[in-house]
Amino acid sequence: MKASGMRTLIQNATVVFPEKTRVATILLDGHRIAEVDPPADTSADEVVDATGLHLLPGVIDDQVHFREPGLEHKEDLQTGSWACAKGGITTFFEMPNTNPTTTTLEALEDKLQRAASKCVVNYGFYVGATGDNLSVLQAAKRTPGIKIFIGSSTGPLLVDKQSALESIFAETDLPICAHCEDETTVRANQKRIGDNPTQADHSRIRDHAAALISTKRAVDLAIRHRHQFHVLHVSTGDEVDFLRSRPDWVSAEACPHHLFFHVDDYERLGSRVQMNPSIKTADDNARIWQGLRDGTIEVIATDHAPHTLDEKAQPYPKSPSGLPAVENSLALMLDAAHRGVCTLREVVAWMCESPARIWHVANKGAIRVGYDADLVLVDLEKRQTIRDEEQLTKSRWSPWDGVTLTGWPVRTWVMGQTAFQDGSVNTDCRGREAEFRREVHAV
Ligand code: DOR
Repeated sequence: MKASGMRTLIQNATVVFPEKTRVATILLDGHRIAEVDPPADTSADEVVDATGLHLLPGVIDDQVHFREPGLEHKEDLQTGSWACAKGGITTFFEMPNTNPTTTTLEALEDKLQRAASKCVVNYGFYVGATGDNLSVLQAAKRTPGIKIFIGSSTGPLLVDKQSALESIFAETDLPICAHCEDETTVRANQKRIGDNPTQADHSRIRDHAAALISTKRAVDLAIRHRHQFHVLHVSTGDEVDFLRSRPDWVSAEACPHHLFFHVDDYERLGSRVQMNPSIKTADDNARIWQGLRDGTIEVIATDHAPHTLDEKAQPYPKSPSGLPAVENSLALMLDAAHRGVCTLREVVAWMCESPARIWHVANKGAIRVGYDADLVLVDLEKRQTIRDEEQLTKSRWSPWDGVTLTGWPVRTWVMGQTAFQDGSVNTDCRGREAEFRREVHAV
């Protein structure tokens, strides 16, 4: 397979354009989308008959944990990127809680170099805040933005001191995103619940109040400092209600596990659904859906956070928080569209267009002439059951094991190269570092 310079004609796909969904033929030339409905005699190296299939922009997942360097027994950049290609994700932005943490320019550069040599999809890496690395946060350029753990989760990163948070919001320019769970509330809940918590206590320890208090604190900083800010993984209906009056430089995101799981699922799934922020109630699920539909929440990302099943099998609270999701997130949302819970147009807005806009990603997130040829062809009628043993994530499991979904990616292109087809990843494909056009944006 030629890596570049290849021309691919995708014929008669039902294409989800920004303005309209209609049957069209798309010409890919090298890494770009070259033409829409080119002349009938247009030549190409490969002609794909996409009749009956839908062509979407590749998904941009702005929140994954791929564990390299330091925790590669759970996942690495290669296996994580394979799982992305299978799931229709063509660009991922990865979190800094690796070992070492991505809190220096050297660590950021190291991740970029590793990714260039092994990722089959495009990539970007957040720079993590520590409370005393302001100069790094000011100097970093090759990154979507700054990640702050305002509540602690997996790994040592935590910035809880108000003065440190004020400095980060006041003295940096990159967009900021944060994990919002209030430490003081979590610790008080832990103390109240005592030494022998059950699995379900996870949602009582990391409760509604912890999420809301921290999200309000972070949004208050963003408003006072007029700093672009993204609330990661909203888990409660109360946060959605609060965010309804957010200014337009504050954005928010939901994750599939907070849409599809709730506290009753601990009985069936145990630590498989142990996440930070914790899963909440069915009422929260419904209110997060409502927040997506009314535009309060604009992004769906996975928070893909693999741990091995052996690690997860430890009794709570030793069991680590996190679940893998990149290879199923698009299918979960296509299935939701199939069931009439949302529309295909909304799925493309939440998973492709909004993350591109919010993170100022150059040339991605839509099917347009001149944009990167990052595309996913989906079969909205395909029914398939998720199976642990078929997962490409190194952790080899999914909380959705045994669930049958309707609507699946069947082929993924990354920068014009086939990254996934006929159930297999093209391990020779290589993604590129995402570029950011932040100069055109001012809060
Ligand atoms: O449950 C979680 N696990 N939430 C996070 O924010 C981090 C993640 C991890 O890295 O394991």
